[in-house]
Amino acid sequence: MIERGTSRPEEGGADRARPSGEAPARRRGGTPAPKAPVRVLLVEDSEDDADLTLCGLRRGGLALEYERVDTVDGLREALARGAWDVVLSDYGMPRFNALEAFAVVQAGAHDLPFIIVSGTMGEDTAVEAMRVGVHDYIVKGHRARLVLSYADVPRVEANAARLGQVFLNLLINAAQAIDEGRADRNEIRVSTSLDAAGRVVTEVRDTGHGMPPEVMARVFDPFFTTKPVGVGTGLGLSICDRIVCSFGGEIEVSSVPGEGTVFRVLLPRAVTRPAAAHPPSALPAPMHHGRVLVVDDEPAIGVAIRRALRHAYDVRVATRAAEALRWVTAGERFDVVFCDLMMPERTGMDFYEDLRDVAPELLERVVFVTGGTFTDRTRAFLDALPNPRLDKPFDVRDLRVAILGRLR
Ligand SMILES: Nc1ncnc2c1ncn2[C@@H]1O[C@H](COP(=O)(O)OP(=O)(O)O)[C@@H](O)[C@H]1O
Ligand SMILES: [Mg+2]
Repeated sequence: MIERGTSRPEEGGADRARPSGEAPARRRGGTPAPKAPVRVLLVEDSEDDADLTLCGLRRGGLALEYERVDTVDGLREALARGAWDVVLSDYGMPRFNALEAFAVVQAGAHDLPFIIVSGTMGEDTAVEAMRVGVHDYIVKGHRARLVLSYADVPRVEANAARLGQVFLNLLINAAQAIDEGRADRNEIRVSTSLDAAGRVVTEVRDTGHGMPPEVMARVFDPFFTTKPVGVGTGLGLSICDRIVCSFGGEIEVSSVPGEGTVFRVLLPRAVTRPAAAHPPSALPAPMHHGRVLVVDDEPAIGVAIRRALRHAYDVRVATRAAEALRWVTAGERFDVVFCDLMMPERTGMDFYEDLRDVAPELLERVVFVTGGTFTDRTRAFLDALPNPRLDKPFDVRDLRVAILGRLR
């Protein structure tokens, strides 16, 4: 039975004849199996992923004959050469993707079952793939069960998008600490509780490879990573730490090599104030109706802000600074101006300078909307101004706080 290609010649058949050192971009199995083997054409750029897929098929008891290709030409040649039973295709590959591969199979009038095997494909893509005729899809690479165990805890005073960033980082780290393929034996558990001091504790616990003390001592250092280039940046935990500190909390970590790791995020509970003294969580009363200008080249941002504010504000949206400037020059006035910094043509910085000439009274009403990364020039520009920043992604509450800060 053919199992592997050149990387494990002792298990291979036809590949034994391959001169060592030849790049195995395409691997072919050839020895006859006792039962008629299933002939699988793999469209996959990664040898490791191909092995995982084949491994799964073998575990299912299939005798296999396979070839791996990762270019359009390779696929065409393999189709012309062999009589295949099924094509299994990765979704996103550097040279092409599953939908293109499917088109090649169809163009050759090969009436073959075509199945996408992917760990990265979203549901939308899967639906689109099925719509064009792909026969099925398989999501690969499960690592662990995710168990959520939430106690009824009080609210904390924090920004939801920022906290989301913290927990996403912790979950990705947990997943990356667990090897693929043994989901039945691994678990990532997220739980909430209260500690003795009344702080809200969110714990992310994994059964991954854990870390030795010398790694644990450095995990919060910026740029400290044990992951290969392209996988780790070493920034995740230092950013988490900064965010949690900014909300008056802290992160604790404990780990046992070979057994797993626990990260605990401790946050002070929100101080409950009388409703009237708690303006940032409530919209100003509708009697404070105001006019809001949004200048952002991403139409979705304007749509989102308008939807969030339309019951209390008149929201005007421009996708180009020049358009907004025309309105202002024509005499329109606004209580708050949300202005994206990075726009083609005239940037947010240009628009701000334009306002200085035509409507200087609006300058203090500008809130800069940013993608969170800055060139040296934009950072210097922002640092020199008192105007607040709203970092994407933001939520409705951030918008309200920004507006209240600008309204007098
Ligand atoms: N859940 C975990 N299990 C084991 N090691 C971890 C875990 N979380 C973080 N680490 C270690 O901490 C290092 C720094 O993590 P992080 O700041 O998120 O950067 P990155 O994930 O980019 O490496 C990781 O490279 C890894 O060695
Ligand atoms: Mg990380």
